[in-house]
Amino acid sequence: MLAAVTHAEMQGLRAGDPPARGAGSPRFVQAALPDAGDVAPALRRGLAAGRAQIPARFLYDELGSRLFDAITALPEYYPTRTEAALLAEHLPAIAAAVPVQGCTLIDLGAGSCEKAPRLFPMVRPRQYVAVDISVDFLRTALTRLQLEHPAITMLGVGTDFSSSLELPAAVGGERRLFFYPGSSIGNFAPDEAVAFLRRVRERMDGHGALWIGADLQKDRRVLVRAYDDGLGVTAAFNRNILRHVNALAGTDFAPADWRHVARYDEQHGRIEMHLEAERSLTVRWPGGERAFAQGERIHTENSYKYTPDGFRALLERAGLRQVGMWTDQKGWFGFFVAVPA
Ligand code: AVJ
Repeated sequence: MLAAVTHAEMQGLRAGDPPARGAGSPRFVQAALPDAGDVAPALRRGLAAGRAQIPARFLYDELGSRLFDAITALPEYYPTRTEAALLAEHLPAIAAAVPVQGCTLIDLGAGSCEKAPRLFPMVRPRQYVAVDISVDFLRTALTRLQLEHPAITMLGVGTDFSSSLELPAAVGGERRLFFYPGSSIGNFAPDEAVAFLRRVRERMDGHGALWIGADLQKDRRVLVRAYDDGLGVTAAFNRNILRHVNALAGTDFAPADWRHVARYDEQHGRIEMHLEAERSLTVRWPGGERAFAQGERIHTENSYKYTPDGFRALLERAGLRQVGMWTDQKGWFGFFVAVPA
């Protein structure tokens, strides 16, 4: 069942809402999608800019999402498996840091809903809310998950939580535990990350918690290899953004003309991904074009890396207090628990 809801409905209670249900099928709610008509002009402006850029969220069309899944299996890409091992080892302690039993577990960027169910045995949520940009990404996984966990009320929410975190009235009144794994916070510049974390804190109603993973600063060679792997999967993932942009903005990119570049900017503490023109060329689209000199680049992603203290300070700027932090033996990845300050 798909309920298209308005902005106002996402914010407040809807009179006609049935009470939260247990067994059965999950409910799905989709917030208004960004107007497709706005996407092409914005992409074209980014390409025409002095420093050409494509926002990183366009890495994830259907093929891009599959390529990212493949990245998580690469030996060089340590974040996913390091975080999974941290959670497997320390889940009892993490779940004891603040009371979470019976909570509403809100999974930000749930996608295929693979990570959160590992928390269920310890967290025992009353309700599981899977949030992603489109409910269509959630439908299959959540429907299957509901069959395995009939006692947990399940709700799929489609919304672009990176710009505003609106939760439908069907999200229950229990304590809210926000789960934001994978170091996706790294795609935000620090000021944007603070703004995002503030929105999460506002939705905690004073008594929630945040469980969040963040990739940590380390030897630059380890970082660069994680974003420039030997098989070239990350290169394919990066180049694929051009196919996606062709589909959305009517550009005529030939991905083979572009070389994947990953570099670590120590000053900003961030990995940058770029696409570099292998030869001088012109990209055309309806109503415009952009010439690129050989070696000229398009910036496609930032992935910020934090120190443990730096991430604690980021949480504090957002009005959150760190109550626990877990890391692996090498100190490569951090998992943080925070509550409203
Ligand atoms: C999904 C944003 C966490 O930054 O490591 C992986 C995306 N980009 N390889 C990351 C990504 C290139 C990933 N995040």
